[in-house]
Amino acid sequence: MSKQFDVVVIGAGPGGYIAAIRAAQLGFTVACIDEWKNSTGGPAPGGTCTNVGCIPSKALLQSSEHYEHAAHHFADHGIDVKGLSLDVARMIGRKDTVVKQNNDGILYLFKKNKVSFFHGRGSFAKTVAGGYEIKVTGATDDAMVAKHVIVATGSTARGLPGADFDEKNILSNEGALALDAVPKRLGLIGAGVIGLEMGSVWRRLGAEVTVLEGLPTFLGAVDEQIAKEARKAFDKQGLKIELGVKVGAIKSAKKGVTIAYTNAKGEPQTLDVDRLIVSIGRVPNTIGLNADAVGLTLDERGAVAVDNECKTNLPNVWAVGDVVRGPMLAHKAEEEGVAVAERIAGQHGHVNFNTIPWVIYTSPEIAWVGQTEQQLKTEGRAYKSGTFPFLANGRARALGDTTGMVKMLADAASDEILGVHIVGPMASELIAECVVAMEFKASSEDIARICHAHPSLSEATKEAALAVDKRTLNF
Ligand code: FAD
Ligand code: NAI
Repeated sequence: MSKQFDVVVIGAGPGGYIAAIRAAQLGFTVACIDEWKNSTGGPAPGGTCTNVGCIPSKALLQSSEHYEHAAHHFADHGIDVKGLSLDVARMIGRKDTVVKQNNDGILYLFKKNKVSFFHGRGSFAKTVAGGYEIKVTGATDDAMVAKHVIVATGSTARGLPGADFDEKNILSNEGALALDAVPKRLGLIGAGVIGLEMGSVWRRLGAEVTVLEGLPTFLGAVDEQIAKEARKAFDKQGLKIELGVKVGAIKSAKKGVTIAYTNAKGEPQTLDVDRLIVSIGRVPNTIGLNADAVGLTLDERGAVAVDNECKTNLPNVWAVGDVVRGPMLAHKAEEEGVAVAERIAGQHGHVNFNTIPWVIYTSPEIAWVGQTEQQLKTEGRAYKSGTFPFLANGRARALGDTTGMVKMLADAASDEILGVHIVGPMASELIAECVVAMEFKASSEDIARICHAHPSLSEATKEAALAVDKRTLNF
């Protein structure tokens, strides 16, 4: 008789491994199947996020920021560095260690929570009495019957036709995080989140970086005022961003990559680079799932079709994270994983899509939650706006990092906070207070009346709230 589990999760990225742990906490017997292999062929749970996404990119952003500080900013503090040098192999090695710590951490958590882990590809075999038969192939060959299945198979990088990823010259996020040397000239196609984060890493380390973006607006999903401020900072750093381009033929040769494109004026151009990163979005990953075997419906984008509660068209089959609609963010995947496990247990799991924070970990960082000013205008909603610059914040001055601002948008009548947009130091941490505030339907006055530690960057959030009522104290 094959193994039986209450819940089988396919994929151990942030959506899958968190769903598995929560389901186990709720008393179910749980298996989690993941096929990611580390450099020696062993299991590497954690998905894109841990292996080639959130974690390694933040490790390299940190290392490259240290390098940039040592090279250009320590002197402002009276610290002179002589003979500064860069060991890319050691930097990448440190990043790999951080990744491995996270892989091992997840394996430990599976043990602690009694989640059975299977290393290999999980696929639907057939519908059987009492559930679904799931096959495991690859590193492990196995089979099991699942009463509930949670599909959490994530996403992969979208390529450009005629420019396949070889991870040597034409790189996806995987190659972009594993370069063995700093390219002299680095090209990126797509000025989205990956383009800006990866462009920042390699620019800080000395590459001449050019980013080609198809849209005429910079960071169209970000509040316009914040995007403008960020663009100013990136221009100053020397990150070359060309908007409104149309990319044509891409030729890869031994000596590098040539990209033919037309600029915003429609003039033909060529860009010669040593390496090219293509970061034009990601596609849901259902390859290998054998969805047809059980009649699992995919949508027109190839994502697993789900309703608001992550239910698919099949009874007791759920899907979460990048493989379904919605933002492709690790914390969104995790929230859906928890909510699904709780729904399986008959509880009322819930994900509030209106309060999912976004962070771009550039310098300055960009973070936001809720609606942008342009969205409120389009909706015709009456709103008030308050901004406070970090230039007027004591902690930011002490840090030597005064770029940017906090901007708060509140309903004109009720004062409920509708959105908060931050560009500046530690925006990724500052946004958490704003998420809590919005989740509790706080007004801007609530934030303005709360005592914030001094000196701290969070005082800029309080001051932005005061600015909504036109009564900043320090500006
Ligand atoms: P994934 O993390 O993609 O995990 C899916 C897992 O399923 C993988 O391990 C895969 O091998 C496995 N799998 C697939 N099919 C099968 C199968 N048939 N059988 C067995 N296993 C299978 N998000 C943030 O919130 N913050 C960030 O800072 C951030 N930075 C990023 C940086 C980069 C460079 C990239 C590329 C992404 C980043 N993201 C970030 C996005 C984030 O990584 C994803 O949103 C998140 O990983 C999605 O989680 P998931 O569990 O849905 O899928
Ligand atoms: P993205 O959607 O953020 O940006 C893609 C960019 O490429 C867009 O600006 C788009 O207009 C442009 N583009 C698309 N096709 C193009 C073409 N043919 N020519 C020129 N430009 C083109 O996607 P990205 O950067 O690949 O990242 C994928 C996802 O991964 C993000 O949307 C995000 O969900 C997640 N991610 C999150 C991070 C974070 O939370 N800090 C960091 C990195 C990725």
